[in-house]
Amino acid sequence: MSRIVGIDLGTSTSEIACIDEGAPKLIPNTLGKLITPSVVHIGEDGTVLVGEDAAEYLFTRPDCTFMEVKRLTGSGEVLRAHQKDYSPEELQAMLLRYLVGCAETYLGEKIDRAVITVPAYFTDVQRRATTKAGELAGLQVERIINEPTAAALDYGLANLKECKNVLVYDLGGGTLDVTVLELFEGVIDVKASRGNNHLGGKDFDELIMCNLADPMKDERALMRLKKAAEDCKIALSTQEEYQISLPFLLTAKNGKPVSLEKTVTRTEFEQWVQEKVVSTREPMMTALSDAGLSPGDLNVILLVGGSTRIPCVKKLVEETLSAIPRSLVDPDLTVARGAAIQAGLLEGSISNTDLVLTDVCPYTLGTAVLHEGVYEDRLLFDPLIPRNTTIPTEKSRLYYPATDYQTTVQIRVYQGDSSNPDNNEQLGDILLTGIPPAKRGKEPVEVTFAYDINGILQVKASVVSTGGKVSTDISTTGVKPKPVLDLSQWEKAEEARHYRPAIRKAEKQIAFGNDEAGELKILVQQIKEALLLKEGQQAEDLRAELLELLEDMA
Ligand SMILES: Nc1ncnc2c1ncn2[C@@H]1O[C@H](COP(=O)(O)OP(=O)(O)OP(=O)(O)O)[C@@H](O)[C@H]1O
Ligand SMILES: [Mg+2]
Repeated sequence: MSRIVGIDLGTSTSEIACIDEGAPKLIPNTLGKLITPSVVHIGEDGTVLVGEDAAEYLFTRPDCTFMEVKRLTGSGEVLRAHQKDYSPEELQAMLLRYLVGCAETYLGEKIDRAVITVPAYFTDVQRRATTKAGELAGLQVERIINEPTAAALDYGLANLKECKNVLVYDLGGGTLDVTVLELFEGVIDVKASRGNNHLGGKDFDELIMCNLADPMKDERALMRLKKAAEDCKIALSTQEEYQISLPFLLTAKNGKPVSLEKTVTRTEFEQWVQEKVVSTREPMMTALSDAGLSPGDLNVILLVGGSTRIPCVKKLVEETLSAIPRSLVDPDLTVARGAAIQAGLLEGSISNTDLVLTDVCPYTLGTAVLHEGVYEDRLLFDPLIPRNTTIPTEKSRLYYPATDYQTTVQIRVYQGDSSNPDNNEQLGDILLTGIPPAKRGKEPVEVTFAYDINGILQVKASVVSTGGKVSTDISTTGVKPKPVLDLSQWEKAEEARHYRPAIRKAEKQIAFGNDEAGELKILVQQIKEALLLKEGQQAEDLRAELLELLEDMA
């Protein structure tokens, strides 16, 4: 079997590591550095540059140079360079390919298997997109692991004898993760994770930018300003003030050059970012209470990620948890080291220790069910997997169709904690057909949510009496915004012509009062929905069912 590498695919920087003689080891890139900026440049002729070589082009060719792509993971957005579209996953794949290439050169062997880390708070969709990026890079993604858990593995391997409650606070370039875990003689038992997928150092840079200058369109000027803002932020971690100097930043309307000269003090910077920094308190407190702990129960606090070098960030953690956090020796490298340890556990290269790892699902996952009310029925969120359940996990529940003689049910899958499904994020849905027509409450349908070790959800549904099954990997292309469907527009759908005869026939029967069970109505409605949502296969299945029903009635 070939070797497995561990990769920390970060918003700002990425690292790759492997196991060497039983211990994690960072692999240098082509420039001999352990840290690679997560920047990709695409040349006119399609040549790809990655890392520092690509970062040079941020100022001269911002139109075909991409940074912080990770924040778009799974969003379905496209990025353009030289009239060609690239998905965030394709750009991430280029980054991965480069890192793996460095490892192949360094180790002198072919690498095609990897463990890739993601923020603990990454959603199902974002995890799938990360796996996709790995596959596009020609890698078999052996495991997706959570970044703070990786940091805990690194710490755990070095402190095998400890029995402690640990909180990992990971604030990187684009994401915040807080994870609470218990370390017990090599067993790493993650209790709870909480975080924010859109909070990190890049937000602090942006706050500096908007306090220094008005919004500007000129992309090159914007890039220079962004770089200056980041330099300023980093400098203010160790000094009290910083002088920003950007000569000839813009050209004014009158043709005169405009420069930017300003001194920023640490106090000013702290005021600008205060709200964002304070917003990280809630995830800490929630993760703790989800784990059933209070600050006093913590023995170790690990700071991970470049943004934890900011003094007011450290101070907030300290104040919130009434304890002094321990800065890891390598807040930038520990996640990649942990990924390598996970790789080593999989390939058996660190089998002499008893390191065991459990992780959790950070989100509550469930479906929507109809509850009968006195005045009106309403849809309620029905959680199947509560947040912070240990993974892998599988939960099943029986449901009954809501109306008499209903032969199909649509099972919607949501993520969130609100009892109103509309306030949660809909991950997708699956349609179960072929339920034998029966009085309501007679034909149970079993719904199963399976959440695997990589944090990916699979939903299955079956008709208990017939064993008829459907299952689906919940939407792979990104969480679709809730579609507001105007069913009256169905005839505008591409394939409408093909469905028109069956729908007309059914609607005639409904108008004649031949649809007591309401089955025709539901099918017609669902066909229209499927057409509007361009779900061809589903529409076709429903049409077959409708035709069958119409034939039975004739
Ligand atoms: N000394 C410092 N003071 C303040 N900020 C810093 C310092 N060093 C690095 N940073 C910031 O840390 C961020 C990068 O951290 P890191 O490399 O841990 O993030 P990442 O792993 O790329 O991101 P993520 O984990 O969110 O995907 C950048 O925003 C960078 O500006
Ligand atoms: Mg990181």
